[in-house]
Amino acid sequence: MIVTTKKLFEAAYGKYAIGAYNINNLEQAMGLFRGNVESQAPFIIQISKGARSYTHKSMLEAIIRAADALFPEAVFAVHLDHGDEETCYDAINSGFYSSVMIDASHEDFETNVAITRRVVEAAHAKGVVVEAELGQLGGVEEHVAVDEAGAKLTDPDKAKEFVERTGCDSLAVAIGTSHGAYKFSGAQTLRLDVLAEIQKRLPGFPLVLHGASSIPQEEVERINAAGGNLKGAKGVDENLFKRAAELGVTKVNIDTDGRLVWVRVHREYLKEHPEVVDFRPIGKIFMAEYAKMIAHKNEKLGSAGRL
Ligand code: G3H
Ligand code: 13P
Ligand code: NA
Ligand code: ZN
Repeated sequence: MIVTTKKLFEAAYGKYAIGAYNINNLEQAMGLFRGNVESQAPFIIQISKGARSYTHKSMLEAIIRAADALFPEAVFAVHLDHGDEETCYDAINSGFYSSVMIDASHEDFETNVAITRRVVEAAHAKGVVVEAELGQLGGVEEHVAVDEAGAKLTDPDKAKEFVERTGCDSLAVAIGTSHGAYKFSGAQTLRLDVLAEIQKRLPGFPLVLHGASSIPQEEVERINAAGGNLKGAKGVDENLFKRAAELGVTKVNIDTDGRLVWVRVHREYLKEHPEVVDFRPIGKIFMAEYAKMIAHKNEKLGSAGRL
């Protein structure tokens, strides 16, 4: 059943966070639904611009609608991840998305406010919920490269002003994470102190953590042992999710951890079966392993068993 993130966030606030998982294809969709249904967790499906154009946005919509019918117990929202203004309007008008993210965080403050405000007006007119972003993560997001030194943490005072002026429904904050497999060069960790300051100014308001993959070291080692080269890959400590949830984080974005599962399964299988031609046995392992990763993540987020 497709629901709005608003409903999911109200139930979760201060207690647990909802996993927001990026998918691009059929196998990810199957693994995602299985993992969430098995762990009895509400979840968010995130679709990036790149995912919409990987095959076609209508292919992903058809896959998700089919999965919804196959898994009647599933409770989830459909969310546009890192939208620009034009893609937000397309998603809002499609009638398929429960929520959109307008990401104008690379713009100056006033421009970010103006763009976000326009998207909020269009979205709310159609009952669609809006996530916006203030501050900048490290790493690469949607054609904007931000090196870690250049990453700008969210200013708590500005966050309050931004939410009041835009009317957005949730806010993605930059508290030290970055997208992808290489986070925290040096001894950095999540800036929970900054998060606490943001929550003080926006009590009860849902916050979103991007770049939250944990990049399990066991996964990295297995990938490297099977021919990969992910030297120095590292991520967010999963044991901090519950603290982040207490501090107002209701949505935690995970993409790269799922990509690592794909790479590990495929590298290991093809290495062990050099004669293989049929791709379905690998796909089946991937779906099962992806589902396992999702169920594990939901335990860490506290969303497991909340259906
Ligand atoms: O934040 C970006 C997400 O991980 C989606 O990645 O734009 O390569 O699909 P993508
Ligand atoms: P990761 O790259 O850490 O999985 O972050 C995903 C994300 O923030 C999607 O918006
Ligand atoms: Na951004
Ligand atoms: Zn993101």
